[in-house]
Amino acid sequence: LGKDIHFLTECHSTNDLALEKIRNREVAEGSIVIADSQTKGRGQRGNRWWSEPNKNLTFSLVLQPFFLDPSEQFELNIAVSLAVSETLSDYVKGIKLKWPNDILHEEKGKIGGILIENILNHKGIEYSVVGIGLNINQSISEIPFATSFFNLTAKEWDRWEIFKLLISKMEKYYILLKKGEKNQLRRRYVENLYRINEIAEYDDGEVFEGEITGIEQSGKLIIKKSDGSLNYYGFKEVKYL
Ligand code: BTN
Repeated sequence: LGKDIHFLTECHSTNDLALEKIRNREVAEGSIVIADSQTKGRGQRGNRWWSEPNKNLTFSLVLQPFFLDPSEQFELNIAVSLAVSETLSDYVKGIKLKWPNDILHEEKGKIGGILIENILNHKGIEYSVVGIGLNINQSISEIPFATSFFNLTAKEWDRWEIFKLLISKMEKYYILLKKGEKNQLRRRYVENLYRINEIAEYDDGEVFEGEITGIEQSGKLIIKKSDGSLNYYGFKEVKYL
Protein backbone atom coordinates (compact mmCIF):
# COMPACT_ATOMS: atom_id res chain seq x y z
CA LEU A 1 0.00 0.00 0.00
CA GLY A 2 1.09 3.55 -0.65
CA LYS A 3 3.46 2.89 -3.57
CA ASP A 4 1.45 5.35 -5.68
CA ILE A 5 0.79 8.63 -3.88
CA HIS A 6 -1.13 11.54 -5.41
CA PHE A 7 -0.26 14.61 -3.39
CA LEU A 8 -2.24 17.85 -3.61
CA THR A 9 -1.86 21.12 -1.76
CA GLU A 10 -5.62 21.58 -1.91
CA CYS A 11 -8.72 19.73 -3.06
CA HIS A 12 -12.42 19.49 -2.18
CA SER A 13 -12.25 16.11 -0.54
CA THR A 14 -9.67 13.37 -0.99
CA ASN A 15 -12.49 10.80 -0.88
CA ASP A 16 -14.28 12.53 -3.77
CA LEU A 17 -11.07 12.79 -5.72
CA ALA A 18 -10.20 9.14 -5.12
CA LEU A 19 -13.69 8.09 -6.28
CA GLU A 20 -13.27 10.19 -9.41
CA LYS A 21 -9.85 8.68 -10.10
CA ILE A 22 -11.28 5.19 -9.71
CA ARG A 23 -13.97 6.00 -12.28
CA ASN A 24 -11.28 7.35 -14.65
CA ARG A 25 -9.14 4.25 -14.03
CA GLU A 26 -6.25 6.42 -12.80
CA VAL A 27 -5.67 4.51 -9.56
CA ALA A 28 -5.30 0.91 -8.46
CA GLU A 29 -5.38 -0.93 -5.15
CA GLY A 30 -2.97 0.69 -2.70
CA SER A 31 -3.03 4.16 -4.29
CA ILE A 32 -3.33 7.11 -1.94
CA VAL A 33 -4.74 10.58 -2.51
CA ILE A 34 -3.50 13.04 0.11
CA ALA A 35 -4.06 16.77 0.51
CA ASP A 36 -2.63 19.50 2.71
CA SER A 37 -5.99 21.15 2.83
CA GLN A 38 -9.58 20.19 1.94
CA THR A 39 -12.24 22.77 1.12
CA LYS A 40 -15.15 20.32 1.41
CA GLY A 41 -13.90 17.57 3.69
CA ARG A 42 -16.68 15.12 4.43
CA GLY A 43 -17.38 13.22 7.64
CA GLN A 44 -19.81 10.52 8.68
CA ARG A 45 -23.57 11.07 8.48
CA GLY A 46 -23.26 13.96 6.03
CA ASN A 47 -21.16 16.04 8.46
CA ARG A 48 -18.31 18.28 7.39
CA TRP A 49 -14.77 17.40 8.30
CA TRP A 50 -12.84 20.52 9.10
CA SER A 51 -9.08 20.33 9.38
CA GLU A 52 -6.59 23.18 9.69
CA PRO A 53 -4.58 23.45 6.42
CA ASN A 54 -1.00 22.09 6.39
CA LYS A 55 -1.16 20.78 9.93
CA ASN A 56 -2.87 17.43 9.85
CA LEU A 57 -3.33 14.27 7.84
CA THR A 58 -6.27 14.02 5.45
CA PHE A 59 -6.00 11.26 2.90
CA SER A 60 -7.82 8.44 1.14
CA LEU A 61 -6.55 4.96 0.41
CA VAL A 62 -7.96 2.91 -2.48
CA LEU A 63 -8.56 -0.77 -1.76
CA GLN A 64 -10.18 -3.63 -3.64
CA PRO A 65 -11.52 -5.93 -0.91
CA PHE A 66 -13.25 -8.29 -3.38
CA PHE A 67 -12.97 -11.04 -0.72
CA LEU A 68 -15.57 -9.27 1.46
CA ASP A 69 -19.27 -9.65 0.91
CA PRO A 70 -21.19 -6.33 0.99
CA SER A 71 -22.74 -7.54 4.26
CA GLU A 72 -19.21 -7.63 5.72
CA GLN A 73 -18.37 -3.97 5.09
CA PHE A 74 -17.87 -3.37 8.78
CA GLU A 75 -14.90 -5.78 8.81
CA LEU A 76 -12.86 -3.30 6.79
CA ASN A 77 -13.81 -0.56 9.21
CA ILE A 78 -12.53 -2.76 12.03
CA ALA A 79 -9.19 -3.40 10.33
CA VAL A 80 -8.66 0.29 9.51
CA SER A 81 -9.71 1.43 13.00
CA LEU A 82 -7.20 -0.94 14.55
CA ALA A 83 -4.42 0.30 12.28
CA VAL A 84 -5.14 3.90 13.25
CA SER A 85 -5.46 3.24 16.99
CA GLU A 86 -2.31 1.10 17.06
CA THR A 87 -0.37 3.83 15.25
CA LEU A 88 -1.51 6.57 17.62
CA SER A 89 -0.96 4.34 20.65
CA ASP A 90 2.72 4.11 19.70
CA TYR A 91 2.93 7.81 20.64
CA VAL A 92 0.26 8.52 23.26
CA LYS A 93 -1.69 6.57 25.87
CA GLY A 94 -5.47 6.47 26.21
CA ILE A 95 -6.45 6.03 22.54
CA LYS A 96 -9.85 4.35 22.11
CA LEU A 97 -12.19 3.50 19.27
CA LYS A 98 -15.57 5.04 19.54
CA TRP A 99 -18.08 2.97 17.61
CA PRO A 100 -18.52 3.05 14.71
CA ASN A 101 -15.43 4.89 13.51
CA ASP A 102 -14.15 7.71 15.65
CA ILE A 103 -10.67 7.72 17.10
CA LEU A 104 -10.68 9.23 20.57
CA HIS A 105 -8.47 10.07 23.43
CA GLU A 106 -10.58 8.72 26.29
CA GLU A 107 -10.48 11.95 28.29
CA LYS A 108 -9.57 14.66 25.81
CA GLY A 109 -11.85 13.81 22.89
CA LYS A 110 -11.87 13.07 19.18
CA ILE A 111 -8.53 13.01 17.41
CA GLY A 112 -9.56 11.47 14.12
CA GLY A 113 -12.24 9.86 12.02
CA ILE A 114 -12.70 7.36 9.24
CA LEU A 115 -15.05 7.54 6.27
CA ILE A 116 -15.18 4.43 4.10
CA GLU A 117 -17.12 4.55 0.84
CA ASN A 118 -17.63 1.51 -1.34
CA ILE A 119 -18.26 0.95 -5.01
CA LEU A 120 -20.23 -2.26 -5.46
CA ASN A 121 -20.61 -4.37 -8.57
CA HIS A 122 -22.71 -7.50 -9.22
CA LYS A 123 -20.09 -9.68 -7.51
CA GLY A 124 -19.65 -7.59 -4.37
CA ILE A 125 -17.32 -4.80 -3.26
CA GLU A 126 -15.27 -3.64 -6.22
CA TYR A 127 -13.52 -0.69 -4.57
CA SER A 128 -13.34 0.85 -1.13
CA VAL A 129 -12.14 4.37 -0.54
CA VAL A 130 -10.80 4.58 3.00
CA GLY A 131 -10.75 8.23 4.05
CA ILE A 132 -8.83 9.11 7.18
CA GLY A 133 -8.60 12.44 8.93
CA LEU A 134 -6.20 12.80 11.87
CA ASN A 135 -5.59 15.94 13.87
CA ILE A 136 -1.86 16.18 14.34
CA ASN A 137 -0.48 19.71 14.78
CA GLN A 138 -3.72 21.64 14.88
CA SER A 139 -4.25 23.65 18.05
CA ILE A 140 -7.79 24.88 17.53
CA SER A 141 -11.00 23.03 16.86
CA GLU A 142 -14.51 23.66 15.58
CA ILE A 143 -16.21 20.96 17.59
CA PRO A 144 -16.31 20.83 21.40
CA PHE A 145 -15.03 17.36 22.33
CA ALA A 146 -11.99 17.35 20.02
CA THR A 147 -8.24 17.26 20.39
CA SER A 148 -5.03 16.70 18.44
CA PHE A 149 -1.59 15.19 18.90
CA PHE A 150 -0.29 18.67 19.55
CA ASN A 151 -2.88 19.26 22.28
CA LEU A 152 -2.19 15.91 23.89
CA THR A 153 1.58 16.11 23.93
CA ALA A 154 2.34 19.86 23.81
CA LYS A 155 4.75 19.45 20.90
CA GLU A 156 4.73 19.49 17.11
CA TRP A 157 4.95 16.23 15.23
CA ASP A 158 6.36 15.13 11.91
CA ARG A 159 3.17 14.29 10.00
CA TRP A 160 5.01 12.13 7.49
CA GLU A 161 6.55 9.92 10.14
CA ILE A 162 3.06 9.21 11.50
CA PHE A 163 1.70 8.74 7.96
CA LYS A 164 4.40 6.18 7.11
CA LEU A 165 3.78 4.18 10.27
CA LEU A 166 0.04 4.27 9.66
CA ILE A 167 0.38 2.94 6.12
CA SER A 168 2.54 0.06 7.32
CA LYS A 169 -0.04 -0.79 10.02
CA MET A 170 -2.87 -0.60 7.49
CA GLU A 171 -0.98 -3.05 5.34
CA LYS A 172 -0.55 -5.40 8.29
CA TYR A 173 -4.24 -5.30 9.23
CA TYR A 174 -5.41 -5.52 5.62
CA ILE A 175 -3.35 -8.70 5.19
CA LEU A 176 -4.87 -10.17 8.37
CA LEU A 177 -8.34 -9.36 7.05
CA LYS A 178 -7.53 -10.91 3.69
CA LYS A 179 -6.32 -14.05 5.47
CA GLY A 180 -9.74 -14.30 7.12
CA GLU A 181 -8.66 -13.39 10.67
CA LYS A 182 -12.00 -11.69 11.24
CA ASN A 183 -12.63 -13.01 14.73
CA GLN A 184 -9.25 -11.94 16.00
CA LEU A 185 -9.70 -8.44 14.54
CA ARG A 186 -13.21 -8.15 15.94
CA ARG A 187 -11.99 -9.19 19.40
CA ARG A 188 -9.25 -6.55 19.34
CA TYR A 189 -11.68 -3.91 18.11
CA VAL A 190 -14.09 -4.65 20.95
CA GLU A 191 -11.25 -4.65 23.52
CA ASN A 192 -10.31 -1.15 22.38
CA LEU A 193 -13.83 0.24 22.31
CA TYR A 194 -14.51 3.44 24.17
CA ARG A 195 -16.83 2.70 27.13
CA ILE A 196 -16.72 -1.07 26.77
CA ASN A 197 -18.32 -2.68 29.85
CA GLU A 198 -18.87 0.69 31.50
CA ILE A 199 -22.21 1.98 32.66
CA ALA A 200 -23.04 5.23 30.91
CA GLU A 201 -25.95 7.24 29.50
CA TYR A 202 -27.29 6.89 25.97
CA ASP A 203 -30.20 8.25 23.99
CA ASP A 204 -32.16 6.17 21.49
CA GLY A 205 -35.14 8.49 21.53
CA GLU A 206 -35.26 7.95 25.25
CA VAL A 207 -32.40 8.56 27.69
CA PHE A 208 -31.25 5.39 29.45
CA GLU A 209 -28.37 3.86 31.37
CA GLY A 210 -26.59 0.95 29.83
CA GLU A 211 -23.35 -0.85 29.14
CA ILE A 212 -21.76 -1.51 25.76
CA THR A 213 -21.02 -5.24 25.61
CA GLY A 214 -19.81 -5.63 22.03
CA ILE A 215 -20.87 -5.56 18.38
CA GLU A 216 -22.95 -8.07 16.46
CA GLN A 217 -22.05 -9.66 13.13
CA SER A 218 -23.01 -6.78 10.83
CA GLY A 219 -21.38 -4.20 13.11
CA LYS A 220 -24.38 -3.11 15.15
CA LEU A 221 -23.57 -1.87 18.63
CA ILE A 222 -24.88 -3.98 21.52
CA ILE A 223 -25.94 -2.11 24.66
CA LYS A 224 -27.22 -3.92 27.72
CA LYS A 225 -29.83 -1.89 29.54
CA SER A 226 -30.12 -1.97 33.33
CA ASP A 227 -33.12 -4.34 33.09
CA GLY A 228 -30.78 -6.84 31.40
CA SER A 229 -32.25 -6.49 27.89
CA LEU A 230 -29.85 -6.37 24.94
CA ASN A 231 -30.38 -3.65 22.37
CA TYR A 232 -28.83 -3.53 18.88
CA TYR A 233 -28.16 -0.21 17.24
CA GLY A 234 -27.35 0.75 13.68
CA PHE A 235 -25.28 3.80 12.75
CA LYS A 236 -27.67 6.64 13.48
CA GLU A 237 -29.83 4.95 16.06
CA VAL A 238 -28.15 5.85 19.33
CA LYS A 239 -26.34 8.85 20.82
CA TYR A 240 -23.68 8.79 23.51
CA LEU A 241 -24.44 11.26 26.28
C1 BTN B 1 -15.81 11.33 10.67
O1 BTN B 1 -15.30 11.23 11.77
O2 BTN B 1 -16.96 11.79 10.53
C2 BTN B 1 -15.04 10.85 9.47
C3 BTN B 1 -14.07 11.90 9.01
C4 BTN B 1 -13.29 11.47 7.79
C5 BTN B 1 -12.46 12.61 7.24
C6 BTN B 1 -11.53 12.18 6.14
S1 BTN B 1 -10.33 13.40 5.77
C7 BTN B 1 -9.84 12.53 4.34
C8 BTN B 1 -11.12 11.99 3.71
N1 BTN B 1 -11.70 12.94 2.79
C9 BTN B 1 -12.90 13.39 3.21
O3 BTN B 1 -13.61 14.24 2.63
N2 BTN B 1 -13.20 12.80 4.39
C10 BTN B 1 -12.18 11.85 4.81
